[in-house]
Amino acid sequence: MTKRPQLIIDGLKATVEGKEILKGLSLSINGGEVHAIMGPNGTGKSTLASTLMGHPKYEVTGGSVSLNDEDVLEMATDERARAGLFLAMQYPSEITGVTNADFLRSAINARRGEGNELSLIKFIRQMEAKMKDLEMNPEFMHRYLNEGFSGGEKKRNEILQMMMLEPKIVILDEIDSGLDIDALRIVAEGVNAMRSEDRGFLIITHYQRLLNYIKPDFVHVMMQGRIVKSGGPELAERLENEGYDWIKEELGIVDERVGQDEEEFKMPMNTTAPKF
Ligand SMILES: Nc1ncnc2c1ncn2[C@@H]1O[C@H](COP(=O)(O)OP(=O)(O)OP(=O)(O)O)[C@@H](O)[C@H]1O
Ligand SMILES: [Mg+2]
Repeated sequence: MTKRPQLIIDGLKATVEGKEILKGLSLSINGGEVHAIMGPNGTGKSTLASTLMGHPKYEVTGGSVSLNDEDVLEMATDERARAGLFLAMQYPSEITGVTNADFLRSAINARRGEGNELSLIKFIRQMEAKMKDLEMNPEFMHRYLNEGFSGGEKKRNEILQMMMLEPKIVILDEIDSGLDIDALRIVAEGVNAMRSEDRGFLIITHYQRLLNYIKPDFVHVMMQGRIVKSGGPELAERLENEGYDWIKEELGIVDERVGQDEEEFKMPMNTTAPKF
């Protein structure tokens, strides 16, 4: 039996271009659990996702991240993927010259390791079956990765990758943005079908609507680069009805964003603006 995955983030701090964005964030995700992170714009949610995957722009300056006792921060991005971390990005990149099928097959085989590669025929059968589940046109197999894909097609394609790669820890950054109502249901069904004791989820979203389809076990609110409140699904419902002001009042937070240049903000807006 394989060990249930456990991702432990402890006091994580990270900077981008010299600005501290993550300010000591702690969160543990176990196999079988779905955690949702909500929070106003610019509070560090995507930065957390990118930092967990080892994006080179984000420099870790404190804290630790482990996956089943292995030090994730020591690993290169491809090693993190092989260890079972997966991120569906808020803005997936387009890669010209690499087809969707080529990309996925290399990713799967890199994960399976030498000598254990999936045969071409099995790979194609699996990819076709999953694309059918996601109601994707088979032509997407041979299109260049995300090139010219509509917003919703990109998101569906991210879910296809998740289904094919069978990761241990899945991070979905605004997977619901840009999806039409039917696509939202299809994507959510894809995620729900992947829920198991062997897999944990971190779902970043702005809307309760997604969480109606994918029921989270825990809901966390992120402000100022850390988690400031946690609860169950009822927390997301309260946010949907009341917004974030009550949390800011409760915690005495004036500006929930991170990485803002305070000096710049103090400056009167029109001191240097040209007069017309
Ligand atoms: N690569 C980068 N270069 C410069 N600034 C960055 C970079 N990445 C993040 N930031 C800054 O860090 C702050 C947090 O950004 P982040 O994308 O993590 O927010 P978010 O919580 O995901 O917001 P949203 O809900 O709008 O997606 C922002 O002020 C952003 O401009
Ligand atoms: Mg974001």
